[in-house]
Amino acid sequence: MSQPRKVIVIGAGPAGYVCAIRLAQLGQQVTVVEKEFLGGTCLNVGCIPSKAMIAAGSLIDRIGHAGAMGIEVSGVKLEIEKLVQWKAGIVGKLTGGVGGLLKNHKVEVVMGTATLQDRNTVVVATKDGPKTLRGDDIVIATGSVPIEIPGFKFDEDHVWSSTGALAPKRLPKHLVVIGGGYIGLELGMMYRKLGSEVTVLEATAGALPGQDRDCVKVIERSLKKHGIKLLTETFAQGFERVDGQSVVRIKTKTGEQKITCDQIASTVGRRPYSSGLGLEKAGLAVDAKGFLNVDKQMRTKVANIYAIGDLAGQPMLAHKGSKEGLIAAGVIAGKNEAYDVRCVPAVIFTAPEMASVGLSEAELDAQKRAYKVGSFPFAASGRAMSLMETEGFVKVIADAVTDEVLGVHMVGPEVTELIAEAALAIEMCATAEDLSRTIHAHPTLPEAMMEAAEAVHGMAVHIFQKPTAH
Ligand code: FAD
Ligand code: NAI
Repeated sequence: MSQPRKVIVIGAGPAGYVCAIRLAQLGQQVTVVEKEFLGGTCLNVGCIPSKAMIAAGSLIDRIGHAGAMGIEVSGVKLEIEKLVQWKAGIVGKLTGGVGGLLKNHKVEVVMGTATLQDRNTVVVATKDGPKTLRGDDIVIATGSVPIEIPGFKFDEDHVWSSTGALAPKRLPKHLVVIGGGYIGLELGMMYRKLGSEVTVLEATAGALPGQDRDCVKVIERSLKKHGIKLLTETFAQGFERVDGQSVVRIKTKTGEQKITCDQIASTVGRRPYSSGLGLEKAGLAVDAKGFLNVDKQMRTKVANIYAIGDLAGQPMLAHKGSKEGLIAAGVIAGKNEAYDVRCVPAVIFTAPEMASVGLSEAELDAQKRAYKVGSFPFAASGRAMSLMETEGFVKVIADAVTDEVLGVHMVGPEVTELIAEAALAIEMCATAEDLSRTIHAHPTLPEAMMEAAEAVHGMAVHIFQKPTAH
């Protein structure tokens, strides 16, 4: 067996800690450096706490609709401190689990801020003073941080970043959210369900720019139904504190206006994080957008330094970072691996949920590629009806000639789970016919995927499609 390589991983988010564990599984000698918290943004202040609080909002919402099933519930009361404690408990279990896994795999963990000294040396500022580490390879997984816009400095008091929004001390009466993207809509909907009035300010012409517009239409209708105000083509200019309230100045299509609220959340995107890392000392530099460019093996232009996760480029999603971590680990251990995935699924925990994988119609139109589309509404699904969640649909896009599945876009109940089948179909180069010939258990939500694939050929059984010549 060859000598283990000494590897330093900087950052213990879902990219870094997954990479470290895989490196250890492959027999390498690994040190992880983390400046704040094991599990990174995702486990501590991102994916996990947001989904926990969203689950609480959904539960309150469902209780509110229980009357339709003949279940009368009264006296529902939210204790926000308890909710935050419950969420913190989940985060604690998961981050403790990551610590345990690293320990069991004999990964050394050094808590402190890492700075590169050269292509093999990292100095860590720990609470006990500087510590110098030398490695054959270095994996940089420092993630991203929220973008701040002028006039809205995060103080986590009057102006929340997503981190403040996930640790509220009280429930806002009126929350103004700047940015109608992933976080703005997930957290905006969550606060609405918990009982706040919510206004979302979005710079572009619609919510969730870049996502399938048919799916977004369903989300925008749902925002309205829930009583959330979405102001598009609107920019927040600044705010003043007046009589204990925040008066937000906004520029809209029709001129300047003011909105009074008691809480602002600014969620206008995230930027890759590499400040103070000393990249230049190792011969590295970020690109114009702040990303550290890598090849398909996650190598930077310095052969023994790798970058993974949010720092290495879009999409900034946890599962994409973890996948890159597995690839970097394999490459360092001498395996012939490469980032050669056909698609990265995206899931948005709005109400209803939205999910997509592969190409969109807009992207295919831009490529001038011929395609066929089939869709199936959840309103025709027995399972969706029994869950009282009939909004939305599944849309399957297939190549017009080969029938290969090119993209799947969904909005509706539990689509964040359903999308896994679509990702597998695209990875396996399945055709729409393959999907439609696969028996799907009844009554389940995935039947909608089978029917949408049948609809590609005009053959969905549970909706009427005009007969086509065969
Ligand atoms: P991070 O998770 O940011 O981890 C980087 C780590 O590096 C941090 O712990 C940081 O402290 C450490 N670090 C940085 N610099 C140094 C240094 N110099 N020395 C030592 N340590 C350092 N994605 C999803 O896929 N699904 C979701 O549902 C989802 N929900 C989200 C909700 C919110 C509110 C937010 C903010 C994000 C969400 N994301 C979600 C995005 C997801 O959190 C990120 O894509 C993911 O965390 C990126 O992983 P990473 O390992 O690259 O970076
Ligand atoms: P985002 O990029 O999803 O959305 C930001 C929104 O703010 C966009 O719609 C943009 O047009 C708008 N915007 C930008 N500047 C503005 C301004 N000055 N005024 C008004 N609107 C403005 O970014 P977000 O929501 O901060 O999330 C960051 C990233 O975190 C996401 O892109 C995603 O990668 C990840 N994430 C993933 C989640 C998931 O997978 N479910 C959940 C939350 C975050």
